[in-house]
Amino acid sequence: MNETPNTRDTLANLLTETRQFAPPPDLAANANAKADEYEKADRDRLAFWEEKANRLEWTKKWDRVLDWDNPPFAKWFVGGELNVAYNCVDRHVLAGNGDRVAIHWEGEPGDTRTITYSQMLEQVCRAANALTDMGVRAGDRVAIYLPMIPEAAVAMLACARIGATHSVVFGGFTASALASRIQDADAKVVITSDGGYRRGKPSDLKSIVDEAVTQCDSVEKVVVVQRTGGEVTFGDKDVWWHDVVDNASSEHTPESFDAEHPLYILYTSGTTAKPKGILHTTGGYLTQVAYTHSAVFDLKPESDVYWCGADIGWVTGHSYIVYGPMANGATQVMYEGTPDTPHKGRYWELIQKYGVTILYTAPTAIRTFMKWGDDIPAQFDLSSLRILGSVGEPINPEAWMWYRQHIGGGECPVVDTWWQTETGAIMVSPLPGVTPTVPGSAQKSIPGIEADVVDDEGKSVPNGGGGFIVMREPWPAMLRTVWGDDQRYKDTYWSRFDGMYFAGDGAKRDEDGNIWLLGRVDDVMLVSGHNISTTEVESALVSHPKVAESAVVGATDPVTGQGIVAFTILRGDVEGSDELLAELRNHVSKNLGPIAKPRQIMVVSELPKTRSGKIMRRLLRDVAEHRSLGDVTTLQDSTVMDMIQKGMSS
Ligand code: WT7
Repeated sequence: MNETPNTRDTLANLLTETRQFAPPPDLAANANAKADEYEKADRDRLAFWEEKANRLEWTKKWDRVLDWDNPPFAKWFVGGELNVAYNCVDRHVLAGNGDRVAIHWEGEPGDTRTITYSQMLEQVCRAANALTDMGVRAGDRVAIYLPMIPEAAVAMLACARIGATHSVVFGGFTASALASRIQDADAKVVITSDGGYRRGKPSDLKSIVDEAVTQCDSVEKVVVVQRTGGEVTFGDKDVWWHDVVDNASSEHTPESFDAEHPLYILYTSGTTAKPKGILHTTGGYLTQVAYTHSAVFDLKPESDVYWCGADIGWVTGHSYIVYGPMANGATQVMYEGTPDTPHKGRYWELIQKYGVTILYTAPTAIRTFMKWGDDIPAQFDLSSLRILGSVGEPINPEAWMWYRQHIGGGECPVVDTWWQTETGAIMVSPLPGVTPTVPGSAQKSIPGIEADVVDDEGKSVPNGGGGFIVMREPWPAMLRTVWGDDQRYKDTYWSRFDGMYFAGDGAKRDEDGNIWLLGRVDDVMLVSGHNISTTEVESALVSHPKVAESAVVGATDPVTGQGIVAFTILRGDVEGSDELLAELRNHVSKNLGPIAKPRQIMVVSELPKTRSGKIMRRLLRDVAEHRSLGDVTTLQDSTVMDMIQKGMSS
């Protein structure tokens, strides 16, 4: 969001997609969300959200659906009260579903745990009592730094139950990243573990917490879950989870909290150095995550087995592992490790084992699976799957088709869901029983959401036009502020366009009105006066049968302003050659027009990605412009850039 491209000539709309897939008739007939959802929401948006809020159990009804008297500070379900943990756990047990499995947990080494809703309730109550015994009170902050183990969900729900605001920090972050987040939130307690398993090895989390906590005076206690049995050093503040939680009472009466009570803070690094603490609150958030999880994934709690492959440290894990699915009483799979451990078919093996019906994952994972080859998923029975979701980045049409074909047996609808940490819940997505899906497009606002694509002046672009995605109306799960920095909240999200939320993503509307997300605005290239999205050039490259993945950047060019430089991973065992590179350049030119023809294509074996799987184009731009590299500390694998730089200079 540093620089906004010159959109006088708005974002060029280059790629055309003509494939379209109707919803399977059975799914359409029995869908949770049918076409009338859009009509209801159009007729009366606030009444629509009120109806969705009524899917939850409130202890006190709200007086007013939305208070937008002081924009951009919204209040939803004003005066209403509820308990989030009660809604995610207790009420399912009270409804007689205590024996339903909440989590089929699979450790990376192959150890498993099955946790029913009754057992979940017991665990959450004990953890809530343990936190209370430690002096944690409603409004206090608790940092959670855990691997993908059930205690992560238990800890979040225990905080929610007592009104403590959690701040989950991804288990791959360094001590200094953890420390700065603990400091910013002023957290009183940290919940961590001795470690977790990733890529066949136990990681060590506790020593990272120890290092971070030396810089954090606010921390009074560190609660340590034993996962790996690895050696840990204990100081005055440290207690074992199994001592304090297992010995606490399993009885706990949930208290009611205001609809606007702070539920959690989640830090996004964004484009600037200081991470922003995105604040989400209680009633509106739970309403939208529960509704979207039901409508977009068509969850049938009695029969579906849902699996979201995200880490709990990202917003996807918050909204679509913990709060949305559990509010809906889902049975889900939770997996600790990486998809290639101990073998590259691990995901498909788990789908077969648990009969997973709904899978939610990211394009970066899908492109990796494509690269590994079709024969791997083909060895497993994936016929239980009925819906496939994608999130995190634009999904190239080819990757979308591969996902539908090789994972979904050519029949499952693929729902490409666009949203952000800031939006809290899905905003733009097809509905699987209603929308004919189009490969590569997130398509339209879900019912009750007013997304638009606007030009530089904030005017809606017509079909066929490009610009920025914005929200014209507030929504229930929206961020309420940046923790401790209302001004930054206003400046970052509400100052670019009058009265609209600016998401920072480029987008276009195709001839049928479908919305296509084109990546961060900072990544848009300006070539001979045309704004070209990196996403479209990447998609054109990936549509070539020999390409698995690609990252495209604009490098300064004396003639054209910026020249297009592409970094490309080839599929399977395809070898790079000058002929192939020429063929790829021509392929892009043929698909998007000569303006988008890459100046240079480099074959690489890996791409630099953040720990959440997003390509770090900034670093590739440094390479393409022969500069020394900027900050590489957020890279998932720091050796990748060395390999790329060596390739570039040879
Ligand atoms: C950014 C938000 C939303 C949960 C995970 C990421 C990109 C996300 C899509 C999509 C195109 C997407 C956007 C957005 N993004 N989903 N379906 N199509 N782009 O949350 O880390 O806050 O990132 O991810 O650029 O702004 P996040």
